Amino acid sequence: MPYTKSHTTLQVSASGALGPLTPEEALLFEKLDLGRLPRHVAVIMDGNGRWAQQRHLPRVAGHRSGTRTARSTIETCARLKIEALTLYAFSVENWRRPKTEIDFLMQLLREYLRREIPLLQKNDIRMKFLGRTDELPRGVQDDVRDATERTAGNKGMVLCVALNYGGRAEIVDAMNAILAEENGHAGRVAITEESLARHMYTHGLPDPDLLIRTSGEMRVSNFLLWQIAYAEIFVTETLWPDFNRARLLEALVEFQKRERRYGGIREGQPETHKSARVVGE
Ligand code: FPP
Repeated sequence: MPYTKSHTTLQVSASGALGPLTPEEALLFEKLDLGRLPRHVAVIMDGNGRWAQQRHLPRVAGHRSGTRTARSTIETCARLKIEALTLYAFSVENWRRPKTEIDFLMQLLREYLRREIPLLQKNDIRMKFLGRTDELPRGVQDDVRDATERTAGNKGMVLCVALNYGGRAEIVDAMNAILAEENGHAGRVAITEESLARHMYTHGLPDPDLLIRTSGEMRVSNFLLWQIAYAEIFVTETLWPDFNRARLLEALVEFQKRERRYGGIREGQPETHKSARVVGE
């Protein structure tokens, strides 16, 4: 692959959209097959607190730094033309944290939503929020609605932010939505995988092919429980604020080494799983 030297970075012509790459990024990029990227990447952004602790900083400094990582991950995935990226920003369990940390996280998110809209527009990104957003503080709800509406016409990557999200809560919400629809219809309600998928927050998006978790914990933490049925899981010791573009490219390279069998015996997706994987289609 041809390189042109530019200061401390290398420009890889084929990488085009990614812009200047460091030598490490260039090597990783070279290993990537752009025709076999995951359609949907989901990320459990963990380790902000530990990152801050290691530097004798308050936990919130880790969250602020984590927002910068979210920004670069969003931009890189959009430029690689990945269809959807889902970031786990705040779980239904996170309300158990100290109020000061919760308030900081909400404020950080509001800042992000207000400041980053131009970057999202530039990259043609559409925002979607997964979770019980109607339980969020009023100001956050306003910003969530505003970001959704302002990016609604964009045709590129869908950026899902899981906010006040719980995988079990999502399944309960989907079941209740089905029951509410069926209310008044006589007889039994027959729930199928397809009807449940149609009522998930991710309706219309492909299921994640790749689930990334930073900071080494081997848990799924109530994240996209329904949708990650066939996801490849990549766990790295890297703490979220340190999960730079090279680490993301590394995860994508690792994903491409996996043989995906969907319960079958050879690579490729059996016809019978297609409707279950593409939610709502
Ligand atoms: C987990 O680290 C991180 C969170 C609960 C918050 C993640 C939120 C952001 C990075 C903010 C911005 C998000 C977007 C989408 C702009 P932790 O606090 O659990 O870390 P620890 O396990 O080391 O304590």
